[in-house]
Amino acid sequence: MIPMNVLQLDPIEVRQLGEADGEHIEGLFTGLSDQDRYYRFFRPMPAYPRAVMELLTGMDGIDHVAVGAFADGTCAGVARFIRSTRRPTVAEVAVSVAEAHRGRGLARRLVAALDVLAVDRHIERFEIYVHPANRPAAQLFRSLGFTLVLDSGTLEGERPVGAIQPAPALAA
Ligand SMILES: CC(C)(COP(=O)(O)OP(=O)(O)OC[C@H]1O[C@@H](n2cnc3c(N)ncnc32)[C@H](O)[C@@H]1OP(=O)(O)O)[C@@H](O)C(=O)NCCC(=O)NCCS
Repeated sequence: MIPMNVLQLDPIEVRQLGEADGEHIEGLFTGLSDQDRYYRFFRPMPAYPRAVMELLTGMDGIDHVAVGAFADGTCAGVARFIRSTRRPTVAEVAVSVAEAHRGRGLARRLVAALDVLAVDRHIERFEIYVHPANRPAAQLFRSLGFTLVLDSGTLEGERPVGAIQPAPALAA
């Protein structure tokens, strides 16, 4: 059973997502625009292949951890990290926030929650990959301490885990 860490942030609740949250995740990703999907997956995705939905809902709480932001019970954003198989102390981070809830600091809060959960799972560094035209995401990750470099048409960045100060308190 995945411990449900809860971070209460008025009026948004940020908590770790578990097996029972598949519908919340599917709802969020289904609501993303074609442009958002392109930025998130680096290719057009008018419908999600089953394998992609299985990946998005396939958290194990250790190597693949997701957190969600909830507003009045509706999932407003999801962030996750997936441990690198090549470098087990490194994990890739991705985040998506519903359009209606952008500009409220949700992505920042979600990544901060991932930082807290990653420390417990012996992850030392986060890496990110951003489409070079995705200015909001590039600015978000720069503001979260990532240094981005353009490599083969992709903005790539890394930083140590726990770089967000102060780290949010997590309740059991
Ligand atoms: C990128 C994204 C996650 C940002 O979510 P958000 O909740 O609106 O971001 P926040 O409100 O937490 O913003 C945090 C910082 O990001 C940057 N930022 C966010 N949106 C921005 C925008 N439209 N333009 C410029 N900078 C922006 C700013 O630095 C902001 O800090 P500030 O508010 O102090 O200026 C959201 O636009 C999204 O889901 N996009 C589609 C999916 C995607 O591209 N994901 C990223 C690839 S993994």
